[in-house]
Amino acid sequence: MERLDKFLCSLGLATRSQVKNILKAGRVTVDGVPEGDGSRKIDPLSQDIALDGESLCKVDRVVLMLNKPEGYVTATEDARERTVMELIPKEYAHRKLRPVGRLDKATEGLLLFTDDGDLLHRLISPKKEVAKIYYARHEGTAGAEDVAAFRAGLTLADGTRCLPAELEPLGPGESRITLREGKYHQVRRMMASRGMHVNYLERQQEGELTLGNLQRGQVRLLTEEEVASLEGK
Ligand code: URA
Repeated sequence: MERLDKFLCSLGLATRSQVKNILKAGRVTVDGVPEGDGSRKIDPLSQDIALDGESLCKVDRVVLMLNKPEGYVTATEDARERTVMELIPKEYAHRKLRPVGRLDKATEGLLLFTDDGDLLHRLISPKKEVAKIYYARHEGTAGAEDVAAFRAGLTLADGTRCLPAELEPLGPGESRITLREGKYHQVRRMMASRGMHVNYLERQQEGELTLGNLQRGQVRLLTEEEVASLEGK
């Protein structure tokens, strides 16, 4: 966050006193609303700052990470359920953000959003799919045969074939699962196919990205380096 007057000066369009006059004249808007107070704290990465209706923000896309709590569906709209969009702070409302892939209503953890359609498609393309790491609590305990079955590529109850995946038993009723694809309810269905009903599921990592200290329900912007790492650059 930085002061609006400082941001305007930093663009080199006007001197400090000219900036004062520009603000006074109501020529600057923040997310479409005229703003005359230069001391107002703004975030040029997530907010749209415009002069005479012309956007001054160089950021052409936004990529956000949410630590999703359970109880929200991954959808942009839903008539009955709370959606993950309700967890996106208002300052991003002018961005046409969409979730990158999906987490079930009951699943918690790492969920990305972007307003860059090309990036969205690259990230969810089966050819490019990055490793996604899940922590599961489940019935039963995973053993060597389950690990081997995951590694070989499971066939689900309805005949769906899964790519080879990693299952790492962490202890009784706890496992870490690494997938490189994202089929509907995939972890739950894979575990169920081995007789282990999942009671709790959290996505902890995508590629190199981890939740770090992002609290449940909180959102943060990704850096360009983090986005490049997701794209394998
Ligand atoms: N697999 C699932 O079963 N659910 C999720 O939300 C993600 C992966």
